[in-house]
Amino acid sequence: MRRIALINQKGGVGKTTITTNLGHALALAGHRVTVIDLDPQGQLASSYGIFRAPTKGVDQVLLNGADPCSVKLGIRDMLTLIPAGARLQEIEYLHDGGASRARLLQQALQGMIDDQAFVLFDCPPSSGLLVANAIFAADEALIPVSGDHMSLNGLAKMLVTIKKFEPYLEKSIRQWIGLNRSFPRRRLAKEVEDKLRKHFPEQLLNTQIREAAVIAECPGIGRTIFEYKPGSQSAKEFQALASELLERYEG
Ligand SMILES: Nc1ncnc2c1ncn2[C@@H]1O[C@H](COP(=O)(O)OP(=O)(O)OP(=O)(O)O)[C@@H](O)[C@H]1O
Ligand SMILES: [Mg+2]
Repeated sequence: MRRIALINQKGGVGKTTITTNLGHALALAGHRVTVIDLDPQGQLASSYGIFRAPTKGVDQVLLNGADPCSVKLGIRDMLTLIPAGARLQEIEYLHDGGASRARLLQQALQGMIDDQAFVLFDCPPSSGLLVANAIFAADEALIPVSGDHMSLNGLAKMLVTIKKFEPYLEKSIRQWIGLNRSFPRRRLAKEVEDKLRKHFPEQLLNTQIREAAVIAECPGIGRTIFEYKPGSQSAKEFQALASELLERYEG
């Protein structure tokens, strides 16, 4: 089972968009996938067309020790969602439990969803306890970056955040960097890409997700790109992203 955290403390870089569409791409390729919404904004459920926010979700798992299976929702063939739940924000205010507060998710997932090939965590744009839980529970981090110099600062911060956890993790986290919202023909985008390739040759994924109106239209209608515009360039890009992640895995 591969556990991948979609993570970047910079907002609006595409964590939720990629979780939604990569999750569906992997499911369509025949893999069992669970997506978990770790963002109290709870937008992952609506991205899949559940517009009435589920009141129970991973919040119950983290706050009350509920069984993750009791809050999961089957949303597409091969695809399961664990929504945020109404109380997820309360995690950030947990005072008791010391360092073990960051391991709640990791512990809850042990034993559960073993029949899943992928678990994707959609993280909030912050670096608090929810993100710490994702880092402890994940084996891989996929960091979306958009093609401007500002987002390189965000990336540097993100890598420092992950590094901060390393002494406690007892594992290494495989890091991936995915360019999203790119305009491949712009010179600035090329500069950013070249910089990333120079500094992170191993981590940078070859697949880029371009800026496209159809991607931005998807969440409003609660459909993935494969349902809304299956033949589009964007659908091909998300499919390529799934294929690349499947191919580049060393176990
Ligand atoms: N490749 C793209 N082309 C066009 N629009 C995009 C693309 N990727 C994301 N968007 C749009 O950009 C906005 C932000 O994306 P998204 O919500 O996925 O980012 P996020 O990192 O999850 O944000 P947050 O940090 O607030 O959770 C959304 O309106 C989304 O539809
Ligand atoms: Mg998001």
